[in-house]
Amino acid sequence: MLWNSFVVAAAFAGTVTALAVPETHIVHEKRDYTSRRWAKRDRAKPHARLPVRIGLAQNNLDKAHDYLMDVSHPTSPNYGKHWTSEEVIEAFKPSDDAVQTVRQWLVDAGISVKEIVHSDNKQWLAFDASTKQMESLLHTEYHEYEDIKTGGVMPACDQYHVPKHIQQHIDYITPANLSICDKEITPACVAALYKIPPAPRDVVKSNSMGIFEAELQFWDQVDLDKFFTNFTNIPNGTHPIDYNIDGAVSKTTNVSEAGVEAMLDLELAYPIVYPQTISIFNEDDLFYQAQANQTYNYGYNTFLDAIDGSYCTYSAYGETGDLPNVDPTYPDPNLGGYKGQLQCGIYKPTNVFSFSYGGQEADIPVSYQKRQCNEYLKLGLQGISFIFASGDSGVGNAPVALGGDNGPSGCLGPNDDIFNPTWPVNCPYVTSVGATKVYPGSSVFDAQPESAVYDPAGHPYQSNYSSGGGFSNVYGIPSFQKSAVATYFADHDPGLPYYSGLAKDSSDVYAHPDVAALAGSSGGIYNRIGRGIPDVAANGDNIATYALGSFALHGGTSASTPIFSAIINRINEERLKRGKKTVGFLNPTLYAHPEVLNDIVNGTNKACQGEGFNAVKGWDPVTGLGTPNYPKMLELFLSLP
Ligand SMILES: *[C@@H]1O[C@H](CO)[C@@H](O)[C@H](O)[C@H]1NC(C)=O
Ligand SMILES: *[C@@H]1O[C@H](CO)[C@@H](O)[C@H](O)[C@H]1NC(C)=O
Ligand SMILES: *[C@@H]1O[C@H](CO)[C@@H](O)[C@H](O)[C@H]1NC(C)=O
Ligand SMILES: *[C@@H]1O[C@H](CO)[C@@H](O)[C@H](O)[C@H]1NC(C)=O
Ligand SMILES: *[C@@H]1O[C@H](CO)[C@@H](O)[C@H](O)[C@H]1NC(C)=O
Ligand SMILES: *[C@@H]1O[C@H](CO)[C@@H](O)[C@H](O)[C@H]1NC(C)=O
Ligand SMILES: *[C@@H]1O[C@H](CO)[C@@H](O)[C@H](O)[C@H]1NC(C)=O
Repeated sequence: MLWNSFVVAAAFAGTVTALAVPETHIVHEKRDYTSRRWAKRDRAKPHARLPVRIGLAQNNLDKAHDYLMDVSHPTSPNYGKHWTSEEVIEAFKPSDDAVQTVRQWLVDAGISVKEIVHSDNKQWLAFDASTKQMESLLHTEYHEYEDIKTGGVMPACDQYHVPKHIQQHIDYITPANLSICDKEITPACVAALYKIPPAPRDVVKSNSMGIFEAELQFWDQVDLDKFFTNFTNIPNGTHPIDYNIDGAVSKTTNVSEAGVEAMLDLELAYPIVYPQTISIFNEDDLFYQAQANQTYNYGYNTFLDAIDGSYCTYSAYGETGDLPNVDPTYPDPNLGGYKGQLQCGIYKPTNVFSFSYGGQEADIPVSYQKRQCNEYLKLGLQGISFIFASGDSGVGNAPVALGGDNGPSGCLGPNDDIFNPTWPVNCPYVTSVGATKVYPGSSVFDAQPESAVYDPAGHPYQSNYSSGGGFSNVYGIPSFQKSAVATYFADHDPGLPYYSGLAKDSSDVYAHPDVAALAGSSGGIYNRIGRGIPDVAANGDNIATYALGSFALHGGTSASTPIFSAIINRINEERLKRGKKTVGFLNPTLYAHPEVLNDIVNGTNKACQGEGFNAVKGWDPVTGLGTPNYPKMLELFLSLP
């Protein structure tokens, strides 16, 4: 949706290439001056994908001045009768004939009709095409142009041609600047990586996207507006709907108190779902949120209470309701705490929930996590998708020196070498999202630009950052994942010592998974029969973000998760429009159709003592089945009843 920032025309000065152009075509744009700043380099790669935007000629611009005077001039009887945005779009939109003529030209040239999106304001046609397709469409050659001042590169042509009969319908044609995506992931990079067209303008009211926040993560409007202005055409002032649970607070007006996580979540999701709304569910009063131990339970149980009242009294695995001394209790007896009763079933759940928080399964009582997992299952039965980040410490946890609470290096067992799977993504009934990265030198124009994230400590983050993955010690391999995991072991055995076992249920609700006991004297460092993590992946590094008033690049599966969740929200939107139900629990469909994801085959998630898994062909415990391909996912989910 980055129309505004990238209206740098596709035409640049330079030697005009001699091409045989048919007589039916004429030059549409050509630059006559020589820019010293832009140096022509190699031909653009023929299979590189260009995000193409065609600016359609607008109607009635000749009357626009009079329209404005009519509502602004003090003597006008219509003074102050401002137009709605719908009226503006209606007055200036190109004629249906014009749109159809241009569209037909594209379709005749082999651009898939499904890929062509007509923008909300009716003024653009957008689609992705290869350099080769565009060169034949426009009778031109694309070259890479380097900005000699900054080193930035973008594909452009010197001049291009269009058929005479469509020229009157077109302003100009441009690809966006995607040369920076190996250094900085902008909304345009995300859209290009996953082939996400701009969202349709008409939204399904019941399909607001849900994002969970806790741990004093507040959003603020100043950062949102800066982000919207720099990277999108989303209007300033756009903001989420806040659902504050048990005395929580979602928003701050003090930019220095904004939370990077909250801003990251919103800034990744908005460009994908807007104009659909986003609903923030912020959990626990500020007393509890400020306790270091909120990183232990994250308020998931009290959140579930609020969206699904049955959980308040639900009994299983020896527990009824929330767990005293682990979950917060309400009314909160502490100074400044929320004095109301625990909120039960007061908010209708959204169709998709994105969670960028989590911990290690070894830290959470077995009964407690199983009961919570069952609750995700029950909400899946109601058509709700739970999508969680898989963690940022590869097969381990953060080392103790950096805040981890397991072995010194972040692993388990007496030798600090047993892998330490994350929670709650170990629950088979949620979808877990790992992280990928566009490494320097790769381009979104490449066939497969992404690899698993592995950023060694100090480059650029303080800790080693790699995509959370591995095999649970609490849950066995679920049916829908069996064949993917079996293929992984058959074709790409990681060659590391393993054990086979699952933590026992216990009548003691506080009993934690005893991983050292599972491994016994086997010398194994991971569980061969556990649920594999993650299910899927999305980009999670060098993400362009505004938070705390300033611009910075951030990374984490925390970024991958709102991207994947927003895409699922878009797919629900299309299904709901066709009278179908939401997609609900995703995993069985994704494992049955891995072809709708971009398989990630490079990179590793080493951690702890330097061991880990590699991303390989097919599912792997680093990037799961891979990253989204929006058109393929949409087609698949629309083909289902
Ligand atoms: C593309 O992005 C690069 C990197 O930020 C920048 O140097 C270059 O000027 C941009 N090109 C255009 C045409 O905006
Ligand atoms: C939107 O907010 C940004 C950041 O505060 C500001 O720079 C920009 O001028 C605003 N745009 C409009 C149209 O008010
Ligand atoms: C954001 O936009 C402002 C104004 O155009 C510009 O000065 C600034 O460099 C932009 N920041 C980023 C990170 O692109
Ligand atoms: C804003 O938050 C910062 C950091 O918490 C604090 O130091 C400052 O006093 C606050 N400013 C206002 C106006 O409340
Ligand atoms: C969390 O911290 C609060 C305040 O220190 C304490 O009351 C509560 O018992 C702690 N909960 C857990 C699970 O440690
Ligand atoms: C493959 O992954 C490694 C990190 O494990 C990275 O250094 C390398 O650049 C990646 N290759 C490509 C082509 O992205
Ligand atoms: C990063 O991982 C390596 C092992 O691969 C380890 O030696 C090093 O201590 C880790 N650094 C930090 C800061 O955790």
